Amino acid sequence: MEQILFLISLFLSFAFSGRCSDVYSKNDFPKGFVFGSAVSAFQWEGAVDEDGRTPSIWDAYVQSSHGHGPTGGVACDGYHKYKDDVRLMYDMGLDAFRLSISWPRLIPNGRGPVNPKGLRFYKNLINELTRYGIEPHVTLFHNDLPQALENEYGGWIDRKIIDDFTAFADVCFREFGNKVKSWWTINEPNMLAWGGYDLGVFPPMHCSPPFGIRNCSRGNSSTEPYIVLHNMLLAHASTARLYKQTYKDKQHGSVGITLFAYWMVPFTSSEEDKIATQRAKDFYLAWVLHPLVFGDYPDMMKRIVRERLPIFSKEESEFVKGSSEFLGLIHYTAVYTAHVSGTVHSGDFTSDMSASLLPFGNSSFVKFDVLPWGLEGVLEYIKQNYGNLPAYILENGRPTNQHSSLNDVGRVEYLHAYIGAVLDSVRNGSNVRGYFQWSFMDLYEFLNPNYTYGLYYVNFSDPERERFPKTSALWYTAFLKGTTVNSQNLKDLWGSTSHGASSQ
Ligand SMILES: *[C@@H]1O[C@H](CO)[C@@H](O)[C@H](O)[C@H]1NC(C)=O
Ligand SMILES: *[C@@H]1O[C@H](CO)[C@@H](O)[C@H](O)[C@H]1NC(C)=O
Ligand SMILES: *[C@@H]1O[C@H](CO)[C@@H](O)[C@H](O)[C@H]1NC(C)=O
Ligand SMILES: *[C@@H]1O[C@H](CO)[C@@H](O)[C@H](O)[C@H]1NC(C)=O
Ligand SMILES: *[C@@H]1O[C@H](CO)[C@@H](O)[C@H](O)[C@H]1NC(C)=O
Ligand SMILES: *[C@@H]1O[C@H](CO)[C@@H](O)[C@H](O)[C@H]1NC(C)=O
Repeated sequence: MEQILFLISLFLSFAFSGRCSDVYSKNDFPKGFVFGSAVSAFQWEGAVDEDGRTPSIWDAYVQSSHGHGPTGGVACDGYHKYKDDVRLMYDMGLDAFRLSISWPRLIPNGRGPVNPKGLRFYKNLINELTRYGIEPHVTLFHNDLPQALENEYGGWIDRKIIDDFTAFADVCFREFGNKVKSWWTINEPNMLAWGGYDLGVFPPMHCSPPFGIRNCSRGNSSTEPYIVLHNMLLAHASTARLYKQTYKDKQHGSVGITLFAYWMVPFTSSEEDKIATQRAKDFYLAWVLHPLVFGDYPDMMKRIVRERLPIFSKEESEFVKGSSEFLGLIHYTAVYTAHVSGTVHSGDFTSDMSASLLPFGNSSFVKFDVLPWGLEGVLEYIKQNYGNLPAYILENGRPTNQHSSLNDVGRVEYLHAYIGAVLDSVRNGSNVRGYFQWSFMDLYEFLNPNYTYGLYYVNFSDPERERFPKTSALWYTAFLKGTTVNSQNLKDLWGSTSHGASSQ
């Protein structure tokens, strides 16, 4: 009898573990698991012309007709409001906060002299965080390459970037490393290489006809995406080696890189779509993961891209392999993947991959459905194929229309489901160490400023840039303070607080 009861309970626990966790609390996560939120320098700081900062390629992008809406000039004014914001983070109960260091604020010419005012700002910000017990996770490069280096030698397309990036990282390790234990070298290298050098939609807007989805004045879509990603991997590895050789013994931190990780599922059950999905995973995810874990690009890429794919020398291969102590995942949604037949123009990254990525259900590329199994898919893929590399979810969140209600129950529903999915993955053996919601407040979102991700609302027409908590801020606070959450008790939050009265 006892055995039967045991079997029934075992069966029930399996039946339950197959579904996304609905009822859970922070205490269900392993000890040491960190919960945070995130911003990036350009999208939050503002003060673009202040205290010696020089333009980045991002400034040039938003000033061109290709950037939409307001410029990053003031953004959230985080440069001046950082103390208030850290206080909000503390009140919310964040364990950790992900920020990035603006390279052209710290080293205005890209290399050479350090800007003392830039240095002071980041010291103040990092000190403020640690004073409140909030662990800083610092991204060194979040898209904002100094324009000076872009002008001088084309930025990431030239190998000179490796030394300049390493020297920039050296300043950061030396100056901030006593307080910062988690370093992230490059934000979503795969997305930057594809979007910035094949499609031409991200800074620095390189592409070449007939490729790309706009008319670019410079670039080579057939070669540059591959060269840029290669140089990013080498710059990352060079930085990681510097840390290991010079700082790790004293500072005891770690260095990792990040990956933009859509989860991909075949659009139809056809064999072609299944193969296209495998190919898209190789091109999109394994492009970064394979070198980090095995020291080389996946065979599928080598076969298709051939002489346009850079080759790792034996020394570089050894150097890149194992260079990421942990992996930062940027995950927003799952996409359908369909085979593209008879590609008209073959020979850029997109046509090499020859798969199209399609939004799910009601999703679009600015609105995401709640598909938490997609995040589980990514984590399972890394567990099964890439040695279960320790991972942090560095960005996850749902955009809503910038001026829609502060009662953002759709965002709450998303966060509840995705954090539950992380818990399921952890329980199934994935090596996840932390989760960062994107973004702490509404930021200057350069692709489409009408859709923002914040837990706090910011009105970008208001000179004061006052912050207003949305329902999602209340929900995350409750979760971080240990409240057990479920999908039923979400909607009551708004009415149960005084914030309900100030709904706009
Ligand atoms: C690119 O330029 C050509 C020629 O000027 C024009 O016909 C085409 O519509 C442009 N395409 C885009 C996407 O702007
Ligand atoms: C891109 O580079 C390749 C290799 O150097 C070259 O063959 C091709 O003509 C270039 N394409 C353009 C548009 O410059
Ligand atoms: C899609 O939108 C419809 C209408 O708004 C809604 O009823 C449905 O639940 C949505 N589907 C998903 C998967 O979110
Ligand atoms: C849980 O892990 C096992 C072993 O890696 C795997 O076979 C299974 O598919 C995983 N379950 C889910 C839901 O990912
Ligand atoms: C944002 O919304 C405004 C006002 O509705 C509209 O004019 C603009 O085209 C939108 N921007 C984008 C990028 O969709
Ligand atoms: C945003 O700020 C502007 C300027 O202060 C104000 O006119 C407008 O009403 C505000 N919008 C909202 C939605 O609060």
